[in-house]
Order: sequence, then structure tokens, then C-alpha cells
Amino acid sequence: MTRVCDRFKDASFDNYICETPAQRKLVEALAAPITRNIFISGGVGVGKTHLCYAFLNKNCKRHYLKCLNAWFYYGDTVYTTIKDIIDCVKRGWQTGNSDTALDTYKEAKILIIDEIGLQYGTDSERIELYELFNYRYCEELPTIAVSNFTKDEVIQILGLRISDRLFSHALEFTIEGESKR
Ligand SMILES: Nc1ncnc2c1ncn2[C@@H]1O[C@H](COP(=O)(O)OP(=O)(O)OP(=O)(O)O)[C@@H](O)[C@H]1O
Ligand SMILES: [Mg+2]
Repeated sequence: MTRVCDRFKDASFDNYICETPAQRKLVEALAAPITRNIFISGGVGVGKTHLCYAFLNKNCKRHYLKCLNAWFYYGDTVYTTIKDIIDCVKRGWQTGNSDTALDTYKEAKILIIDEIGLQYGTDSERIELYELFNYRYCEELPTIAVSNFTKDEVIQILGLRISDRLFSHALEFTIEGESKR
């Protein structure tokens, strides 16, 4: 379940300013039906997370959970950071639920993983991430992967086995420019 984030609650494709052809193409790709993986690379503050939430705001309904006193998105799309995936896996190890820890991320019709590269990168983390990426690759479930790092750097960070699946037939975009933060 993805919590509605105050900063991005009104983020949309319309209020994202496209200054380069790559940005325009990226917005077009995100606004169209997603059938392949999408990799978005770019420096800080160029609006990568804005676009992730614009996607959620367009495609998901919102739902208020009284017990948590917060709004959540519900729908076929799950947004997460890679660190949250790792934290979830670790909680699974601690509570003996490691078999099911990744299920939400595995089964999401569209999974958005932000901040790729900002994880520790131990071997056991990579094994879990491999399970996730391989599952989604086999089931042909698209993933939108977002990073401050370039494709080559992501390949180094995630390793070849994961990257090969992530970048298979993927649309790749690089957003250039100064931070708008
Ligand atoms: N092209 C843009 N048009 C409109 N607003 C933008 C644009 N780029 C960034 N912003 C705004 O700038 C702020 C920073 O954007 P965001 O957090 O999405 O950057 P980011 O690329 O995810 O950065 P980081 O890599 O540091 O996470 C947000 O408030 C976002 O709405
Ligand atoms: Mg971001």
C-alpha cells in the first residue's frame, strides 16, 4: 500500500514542466499504457519522484484509512523505494515471513521502484532483489525503475543478472538539468 505523500499529492503530468525532448517523451511514455519496463535516470531535483506520483495520482484511487489516519493509494500500481523493499525483506527474515515478504512487490501490476542505488548492496539483498526482478520478468509485469545513477552504474550496483532482466526491452530516459527543489 502506498501512502499519499503531501508534497506530491497534486503532482501531475500537466504541472510537470518539460524543458527537453527527453522529458516530453518520458511523460508521453508514462501517460500511455505501460507494457515494458521503464528506466528513468537523472540528477537530484529534476522531478523523477514528481513523475512517479503523477503516475499514481492519474492511475490510482485514494482511500482514507482511519486506523492509520492517512490517505493511501489503491489500484494496480505500487510505488516504493528500493530501500523500503530491502527493509521489508529484513522484517520478513526477523519474523519468519521471508517467503511472503516480497509478494506485494512481485504481484503489483505495475511496480515503481524509486531511488535505485541507495541501498547497501549486500549479497543477501541482491538474492532477494533477483527473486523480485526475475519473477516480474517471467510474469511480464512492467517495472518503472528510477535512479540518480546512470544505466551503467545501475548495472554495477545491481549486478548483471538483475540488470539484464530490468533492462530487457526497457524504455530508457535520462532527465538532464538543474534541481528544481
Ligand atoms: N520539470 C519539473 N516541473 C515541475 N516541477 C518540478 C520539475 N522538476 C522538479 N520539480 C519539483 O521539484 C521538486 C523536486 O522534484 P523531485 O523530488 O521529483 O526530484 P527527484 O528527481 O526525485 O530528485 P532526487 O533524485 O533528489 O530524489 C518537487 O517539488 C517537484 O515537484
Ligand atoms: Mg526522488
